[in-house]
Amino acid sequence: MSAPTALAPPVPHHIAIVMDGNGRWASKRFLPRIAGHKQGVDSLKRCARACDARGVKVLTVFAFSSENWQRPVEEVSGLMDLFAVALGREVPQLHADGVQLRFIGERVGLSARVLQGIEKAEALTAPNARLILNICFNYGGRWDIVQAAARLASQGIAVTEQHLSQAMALAHVPDPDLVIRTGGEWRISNFLLWQSAYSEFVFTDKLWPDFDETELDLAIAAFGRRERRFGKTSDQVCIPPSPAVA
Ligand code: FPP
Repeated sequence: MSAPTALAPPVPHHIAIVMDGNGRWASKRFLPRIAGHKQGVDSLKRCARACDARGVKVLTVFAFSSENWQRPVEEVSGLMDLFAVALGREVPQLHADGVQLRFIGERVGLSARVLQGIEKAEALTAPNARLILNICFNYGGRWDIVQAAARLASQGIAVTEQHLSQAMALAHVPDPDLVIRTGGEWRISNFLLWQSAYSEFVFTDKLWPDFDETELDLAIAAFGRRERRFGKTSDQVCIPPSPAVA
């Protein structure tokens, strides 16, 4: 009789990440906070490549929240600059790698330069299907719920779970299976409030610039050990053992 083969751990279809800890990463090195955000861009590139290599099909990241406008003016303008520069520099390679870029969030209030970068990147990468990379920028979970409800109201459509889901900014992808937050905090910070209803959560103390393939594998392994019940009982979701093979 051949030895039983170990089942490969399930890989999440959709991973979402709160990329926290850039500022602390920089401060520990006596660098300006923006240096941490720059390093964060490299960490995001590495993470997108690693997700693709592991078979993840959707990666959603929190790059700038509706509340981040309240940071010191030099940090906000630094982040906007970094975003525009990074788009110009990184999009061609992401496109060549088959990544579809989507920008999720309120566009009113963004500069013409940032808007142009976003629109160009989305148009160029729209046909790609290897990995969808949703970048939440000027995004808040409450904003998303309100904009979806307002859209339904303006069209006279009944507010139901299904209609709201279809009007949300992430309607083009299934809900995240796994939400990771780096940086040691255990909170959701207005990220994917609607979509994370049944996501599994992994919190790590690693600061975002230090989040590497090993950390991703640890998070995926933790996900693989979870029993996802979606409100049902353990008996209902447990796959019965297959009958003994003669
Ligand atoms: C949170 O760390 C991080 C942010 C507010 C910005 C994240 C942005 C990037 C990683 C760059 C993304 C760029 C592109 C092009 C998508 P923090 O500043 O709150 O860190 P702290 O908690 O240590 O202060």
